[in-house]
Amino acid sequence: MKEQITSVRNAIEGTLYRNVLKPILFRLDPERVHDRTLVLGKFLGSNAVTRGLMRAGFSYSNPMLEQKILGIKFRNPVGLSAGFDKDGHLTKILPSIGFGFEEIGSVSGEPCSGNPKPRLWRMPKERALVVNYGLKSEGCARVAERLRGSHFEIPIGTNVVKTNSPETVDTEKGIEDYVKAYRAFAHIGAYTTINLSCPNAFGGQPFHSPQKLESLLREIRKVKTKKPLFLKIAPDLSEKELDGIIRVASKFKVDGFVCTNLTKDREKIKIPGKNIPGKGGISGKLVEELSNRTISYIYKKTKEKFIIIGVGGIFTAEDAYKKIKCGASLIQLITGLVFQGPQVVGEINQGLVHLLERDGYKNISQAVGAEWR
Ligand SMILES: Cc1cc2nc3c(=O)[nH]c(=O)nc-3n(C[C@H](O)[C@H](O)[C@H](O)COP(=O)(O)O)c2cc1C
Repeated sequence: MKEQITSVRNAIEGTLYRNVLKPILFRLDPERVHDRTLVLGKFLGSNAVTRGLMRAGFSYSNPMLEQKILGIKFRNPVGLSAGFDKDGHLTKILPSIGFGFEEIGSVSGEPCSGNPKPRLWRMPKERALVVNYGLKSEGCARVAERLRGSHFEIPIGTNVVKTNSPETVDTEKGIEDYVKAYRAFAHIGAYTTINLSCPNAFGGQPFHSPQKLESLLREIRKVKTKKPLFLKIAPDLSEKELDGIIRVASKFKVDGFVCTNLTKDREKIKIPGKNIPGKGGISGKLVEELSNRTISYIYKKTKEKFIIIGVGGIFTAEDAYKKIKCGASLIQLITGLVFQGPQVVGEINQGLVHLLERDGYKNISQAVGAEWR
C-alpha cells in the first residue's frame, strides 16, 4: 500500500513538473533558474517545517537500497553530482528530497568567478545541457568555513579542483592549488573527489596524464586524512589513457572513480543537421553511452578493486540500473533532475527496488557489475 501511494505521489508530482513548471522554467535563462533554485533550496533546508514538508512530498526508503561502502553508510545509491551545489548550500535540504548522498563543488583553491556569461544552455530535444561555468567557486576557505562542524544527515563528498586561472596552468602551481583545496576539506565530509576532468578551464585536463597525476597524488597523499579518495575522470579517454590512470591510481591507493564528467568531444556526438549551442562540456543523454563505456572498462579491467560512482544521462531507474550493472556501486545525476523534476530521485529509488526484485536480488550491492558475470 505504502509503495502504491508513493508511486501515485511521484506520478502526480512528475506530471505537474513536466507539464506546468518545466515549460515556464525552460523559458527563463538557465543560470538564473539554477541560482534561484539554490536560494529556494537553502531556504527550504533552513527549518524543520519545510524540511518535513519536503520529506513528506519526496522521500522514499527501502532497506534493499542501503549499502556500506568504504565504511560510509548510504541509505540509497542516488546522489547529487558535483556542479549543482558548488558552494555547499544544499546539504540540509537534499536528504528530505530523498538523495542518498551529495557531492559539493567543484571547489577550487582560490575564489573564481568562472567564465563569462552566458555559460549554460539547454538542449531540450536531446535532453542535455551545455556547460561552460569554468569552475565558478567561492573558494575552499569560504566553503570549508560554511561546512565545518556541520552534522550531515547523508554522506557529503567534497569535489576539489585547481583554480581556473592562467597561473595554475603551470604544473607545480596547479598541484599547489589542488592540495590547498584538498587540505581544506581533509576533515569535512565523508569522501573527497579530485576533479581531473573539467572541460572548461585554462590549460585543459593535464592531470589525466600519468606523469602529472603521479606528481599530484604524491603531494595529495602527504595530507593526513581518513577520507576515501576518488578521481573524477572525463568520458573522452581512450583505453590506453584509462590504463595509465588506473595504474597510477593503484599505486597511490585511490579508492574509486567518478565516471564521468561532461564530454567535450563534439565530433563523437555529432547530431545530423544540428549545431550544439554555446561552448563547453555536454551532459545528459549525449554523454550517457560514453559514461557507461568508461564504467564498464574500469570495472572489467580492475574487478572490484575500485568503487565506481556512475554519472551521466540518468533520467530513470532503468538508466541507473544499467550503470549499476556495468559496475557502479553508486550513481549521481544533475541533468535528469533538471529535465524530470525533484521527484525523479524517489522514482529512481523505487524503480530500482522493483528491478532488483524482478532479478532476484536482495540488496543493490548484489547487482553491481552483474552485466559482466
Ligand atoms: C551545470 C553543471 C555544472 C557542473 N559543474 C561541475 C563541477 O563543478 N565539477 C564537476 O566535477 N562536474 C561538474 N559537472 C558535471 C556533472 O557533475 C556530471 O558529471 C555531468 O553533468 C554528467 O551527469 P548528468 O548527465 O546527470 O548531468 C557539471 C554539470 C552541470 C550540468
